[in-house]
Amino acid sequence: MITRKDFPERFLFGAATSAYQIEGHCFGGAGPTIWDSFAAQPGKVANGETGGLACDHYHRYEADLDLLKGLDAYRFSTSWARVMPDGRAVNQAGLDFYDRLVDAILARGLQPFLTLYHWDMPAELGTRGGWENRDVASWFGDFSEIVIDRIGDRVGSTATINEPWCVSWLSHFLGHHAPGKQDISAAARAVHHVLLAHAEAMERLRDRGQQNLGIVLNFEAFQPATPQDQPAAARFDAIVNRMFIEPLKKGRYPKPVLEGLTPHLPENWQDDMSRISAPLDWLGVNYYTRQTISEAEGPWPNYTMAQTNAPKTQMGWDIYPEGLAETLQMLKTDYVEDLPIYITENGMAWDDTVHNGTVDDPARSNYLFGHLAQVSAAQADGANIQGYFYWSLLDNYEWAFGYEKRFGMIHVDFETLERVPKNSYYAFKSWLSGQ
Ligand code: FCB
Repeated sequence: MITRKDFPERFLFGAATSAYQIEGHCFGGAGPTIWDSFAAQPGKVANGETGGLACDHYHRYEADLDLLKGLDAYRFSTSWARVMPDGRAVNQAGLDFYDRLVDAILARGLQPFLTLYHWDMPAELGTRGGWENRDVASWFGDFSEIVIDRIGDRVGSTATINEPWCVSWLSHFLGHHAPGKQDISAAARAVHHVLLAHAEAMERLRDRGQQNLGIVLNFEAFQPATPQDQPAAARFDAIVNRMFIEPLKKGRYPKPVLEGLTPHLPENWQDDMSRISAPLDWLGVNYYTRQTISEAEGPWPNYTMAQTNAPKTQMGWDIYPEGLAETLQMLKTDYVEDLPIYITENGMAWDDTVHNGTVDDPARSNYLFGHLAQVSAAQADGANIQGYFYWSLLDNYEWAFGYEKRFGMIHVDFETLERVPKNSYYAFKSWLSGQ
């Protein structure tokens, strides 16, 4: 089995969370988010649940951060609606919270990895068109400056946006995430404006001298269900894996993406591409699973996901660690060469339960070490990977699935809010200490 010594000494190991999923949004003057509006629509979120209370991390962050001792880094996000409840005016209590949080992270010897946006757009900005409105770039630029002016002196690394594919495609074309649209024009605009907002934030933060700036993208391994499904698999690959890295690194959308999106992209989108492709300092890679793709009836992009016999997580996602090395290899060859990469998310949900004060989750330990072995293999093949963050520190609000899916290394009882470290947590910590 792989050991800590198989990784360079300065390789960072951490865990990741996001604001809305853990903090408890009913505290500290935070405003409603697009997820509160979405959850209020019947049938959109399991049990209509919201991040109102979540893990109450807002009050319990000190004890939660204690659980990270022995790791090197912590990836967290700042809630836009906590910092700017109506999207414009600043809530000082919100900034104060992140100020305390960063100090508490540093006090435990952890490097703070900030993600500015992890999906908690103020509801008010949603009513003004959200990601479909070009103005979102300047709204997001303002938010980014305000956060960085307060905590930028202490964060080692900053990502602008988490998973543009989810922010745009999953939310405006597939309709599974807030705001729940199924509209190709809305999706095309959102795709482009997420990139534009990233560009705007990069420029503003660079102007302020902020260093170590990047973005976090999600990737999925894939295979065609049969050889005849190869064209469908290529469309899937373009939309899921290349729709953002290609503009960011090459200043253009992939051809199979333009086949569907050209009539729907905002006017003169080409003029934005040089800003969008400004250099990154690092790339965040989120990886969970592999999809098996078949051709489908209907309009572009006419593909569908086929079922496989592969072992699955509580999400029903195939467990396929090799896909992480495949993804890293593809990125290196096609896009990033030796740009530093962090695995910013990787993990699995399981229907964990507490028995006599313990949670036995061998499937999660296997998942973790299986994927770490693939990270090490990718490094041996020359990929410049500098860190790995497990998703997630705590069981939390899993978006449209509410509190049902448990990704944490720490079990959270959502009635009592009691935390119980799972066995995978102890396995990770003892592995890190070389035992
Ligand atoms: C990612 C999200 C994260 C969490 C995991 C399971 O897409 O970034 O918030 O929901 O999936």
